[in-house]
Amino acid sequence: MKRWICMLMLLVLALCLCGCGQKEETSAVETEDFVVVGFSQVGAESDWRVANTLSMQEALSEENGYRLIFDDAQNKQERQITAIRNFIQQEVDYIVLAPTTETGWDTVLMEAKAAGIPVILVDRQIKVEDDSLFSCWVGSDFYLQGKTAVKWMEQNYAGQELRILHLQGNYGTTAQLGRTVGLDEGLENNPGWTLAYRQSGEFTQGKGQELVEDCIANGVEFDLVYAENDNMAYGAVDAMKAAGLTPGEDVVVVSFDASHNALQMTLNGEISFDVECNPLHGPRVKSIIEKLEAGMMPPKYTFVDETTFDCETITQEMIDAREY
Ligand code: AHR
Repeated sequence: MKRWICMLMLLVLALCLCGCGQKEETSAVETEDFVVVGFSQVGAESDWRVANTLSMQEALSEENGYRLIFDDAQNKQERQITAIRNFIQQEVDYIVLAPTTETGWDTVLMEAKAAGIPVILVDRQIKVEDDSLFSCWVGSDFYLQGKTAVKWMEQNYAGQELRILHLQGNYGTTAQLGRTVGLDEGLENNPGWTLAYRQSGEFTQGKGQELVEDCIANGVEFDLVYAENDNMAYGAVDAMKAAGLTPGEDVVVVSFDASHNALQMTLNGEISFDVECNPLHGPRVKSIIEKLEAGMMPPKYTFVDETTFDCETITQEMIDAREY
């Protein structure tokens, strides 16, 4: 009987040891085999942003060897600063920051640098005293986007009277600044063009719609809406239609992003011209991390190639071939 109890105890001990061994293996996988990335995202204000989040999540997936800690800042810089501090505490391998705004990052990025965590910027840019506070940046040339839109406007309305309703993005973001400077140069170079109205629609459909409804109610007259993103263009189109105006006929709409819905609206003529802003940064960030892991230094700034869509030339095949 005693012998039987001894054998049972030995068996239990062996099973325990086996179990412990397995647990150690699992935790080793968790901490060592994955590259841990903390990603602080602006929010979910637009179709562009949603596509950007998805692209990051798909590229930095566990199947690809990453553990992604995602934080949605709901458009608030303070939340991004808190998220970065949390990532530092969690000792992540990399921090990816899609900044809400350009300024105010020095202190928290110094903390990341002191902790030895490389910071990769996506989408918008930042202004810091010391540019060694981030490893590199990848995103769009927003000023070029603005200039491209204005070039199209000049091709179609140079020498004409044009009253422009300008829906801006969130103030102080690279996307807003670049696209606004592009238009300002157009206004300077085209004496017939005037600014009928200018206000931030915060890159959202709801705010874009509200502003255009107010303009119409207050008798603001305009020939062209320059919307600094597609979601504000959707809002503007809805407001105009509700007031009995036909976008594309009564009012021209120029927009940015070239999201799927906006391209359908370009095909049906509601949006006349859409400048692409490519959100698919996930694979680009993955490739940057791979280079850093291999001890290579990626270029400090990488600008993405982008295209444009004109309602006169867009086709359904072009839209169907798009990834977002
Ligand atoms: O910074 C990129 C801009 O931010 C996109 O144009 C807009 O849709 C987004 O919210």
